[in-house]
Amino acid sequence: ITPIKDALDFPVGVAIDSRETVGNPGKLTLKHFDQITPENHFKPEAWYDADRNFRPSSDAIALMDFARDNDLRVYGHTLLWYAQTPDWFFQDDAGNPLPADATGRAVLSQRLKDHINKVANWLATNYGKFGSATNPIVAFDVVNEVVADTPENPDGLRRSEYFRILGEDHIDLAFQYADQAFNVDHAASGVTRPVKLFINDYNSEQDGKQDRYHALVQRLLARNVPVDGVGHQMHLSMTTPISSLDGALDRFEDLPVVQAVTELDVTLATPITQAQTIDQGYFYRDAFKVFREHELFSATVWGINDTRSWRAEQAPLLFDGQLQAKPAYYGVADPE
Ligand code: XIL
Repeated sequence: ITPIKDALDFPVGVAIDSRETVGNPGKLTLKHFDQITPENHFKPEAWYDADRNFRPSSDAIALMDFARDNDLRVYGHTLLWYAQTPDWFFQDDAGNPLPADATGRAVLSQRLKDHINKVANWLATNYGKFGSATNPIVAFDVVNEVVADTPENPDGLRRSEYFRILGEDHIDLAFQYADQAFNVDHAASGVTRPVKLFINDYNSEQDGKQDRYHALVQRLLARNVPVDGVGHQMHLSMTTPISSLDGALDRFEDLPVVQAVTELDVTLATPITQAQTIDQGYFYRDAFKVFREHELFSATVWGINDTRSWRAEQAPLLFDGQLQAKPAYYGVADPE
């Protein structure tokens, strides 16, 4: 069967953990994809041991070695997130919540800066400077899911611990620290901005969330925050209108950013029937028709196969539990 990457003129990615770097899942990854996103191993909590020491995991190393050895691009995920982050980030030495005052701000912003610096420094030390031939990192989700799900606050931002302590500034700071670390301190000489810095969120195909997301990116750019890219997670279901995908990508084309589809999957209602699996093939075909009509930095599916999906029961991906191609695969790779 045709490699998916041969059927598309933009890079196509897959989210994997280290177990997908070996065996048949490893082979399937290499056959079909030219980019990987670490599904879990680059999340803030994954970098620290129980004593709060920065200690890159063997899983993170396995993913990076796999990418370097096989010429895969790596889309990093993620530096700042309200979830999968150690609790101590937001606590003082006694284990109490950091105060939302100058002291709390100083502590949390320093922790964020240290975290970003340590990740970038480790990657550059072990895989070469960013933008050099040996370093696979091409992009990073700097902030993940900072937009609110509901409209009650005029700023449209999620009430996370980061927001409570730093306000909207947590987003500016994350991008400034990441830009310095990835694109200045550890960039290969002569290469400008080798790592595209993304903001990433879900439900950007839905009206209210899309408005809040777009307004935020516009504010960031107006303040010269170094945002290069807007990520659309696209965790979808069969009831998502295809036109809304087009709408989401159209919406941000007025801004000087690149766009990526970062976490695509399409859930089915349970119990799953063959008819639904076929409909899902048409859904993927139509979604990728939209993607082909836009200029994308990359499009990534959130998992190699259904049983490895975070939504496994709803069979949302391109390959089944036996790693066999589903109609969804044919919709993407062979859309005629
Ligand atoms: C999910 C992973 O797929 C799971 O394995 C993990 O248990 C929880 O996180 N939005 C994101 C991703 O940005 O990081 C999430 O990934 C899915 C939702």
